[in-house]
Amino acid sequence: MVQDADFVWMDGEVVPWAAATIHVASEAMLRGASIFEGERAYWSAEHDELYLFRHEEHLQRLRQSARVMRMSIPFTDAEITAGCVELIRRHGWRDSVHLRPVVYFGEGDAHAFRPQDIRTGVFILAFQRSSKPSLFSGIRSCVSTWRRNPDVAAPSRVKSAANYHNARLAQVEASLNGFGTPVMLNLAGKVSESPGSCFMMVRKGTVVTPPVTADILESITRETLITLLRDEMGVPVLERDIDRSELYVCDEALFCGSGQEVQPIVSIDHYEIGAGTPGPITAALQKLYFEVARGLHERYRHWLTPVYRQAAMVEQ
Ligand SMILES: Cc1ncc(COP(=O)(O)O)c(C=O)c1O
Repeated sequence: MVQDADFVWMDGEVVPWAAATIHVASEAMLRGASIFEGERAYWSAEHDELYLFRHEEHLQRLRQSARVMRMSIPFTDAEITAGCVELIRRHGWRDSVHLRPVVYFGEGDAHAFRPQDIRTGVFILAFQRSSKPSLFSGIRSCVSTWRRNPDVAAPSRVKSAANYHNARLAQVEASLNGFGTPVMLNLAGKVSESPGSCFMMVRKGTVVTPPVTADILESITRETLITLLRDEMGVPVLERDIDRSELYVCDEALFCGSGQEVQPIVSIDHYEIGAGTPGPITAALQKLYFEVARGLHERYRHWLTPVYRQAAMVEQ
């Protein structure tokens, strides 16, 4: 992460970047005991406003992760939202922003993971983040030799920092081999997701994506795209297992996530996907996604939280 932020929201207040520290003896440091969210805010020039995209759903997922980890979050959703808004307002950003609320276990007895036995803290990082150039050129992907965490050991449904050891192994391997984001299979040998995004492909006009039981994170972008495909584009969507060999014969493929957005895949393991350029359904979906995120579709305004309007209300 490139540090372009001056402040961090930490345990209820905005502090200078350099003052946002956690002790080396914390469980977050020693055992990766933290959960987090990654969400974006998009600038709308038309509305002169920055919109958090699907912020409520991100908070719901943070609570879902906390529940499985038996963590209790010592702030309400309203307090975390106010923290996100205040952090952005202090920076005055009017461009695409990435937000990362994190809940972590602090110092306590080793393995004292019961909420009452260990200090639990919250911080929020924010930084400006523009889209990757591969959004338009597409990604050359591969199938990782690393398998996705199985639910019976380290559930991918939980957005925990520790899961990203598995993700990092796969991403680094792919990068060293000259590929972009890899596809990960689960232990059953079916397509799961990528280290930081979900997977969709097009076969004969139908979009196919692995089900939430395929060891994936329950992606908010995946759910957004399924809604847009079905309700706005009239494209059928199937949630079912995907075999490895289907990757090599599909017509289009993409990765989706709050950070990754809608990334076309142009080849997998050197097999060209379609014409080897972003496919037509993918390109139309990507365009619609950004329009919705920037508040251009009235029907989906309830997915947006206006940052500067909320900040102005607090100041009054
Ligand atoms: C492992 C993994 N899968 C999927 C996703 C996509 O999830 P979302 O669309 O909610 O950002 C992410 C990104 O957060 C991720 O890290």
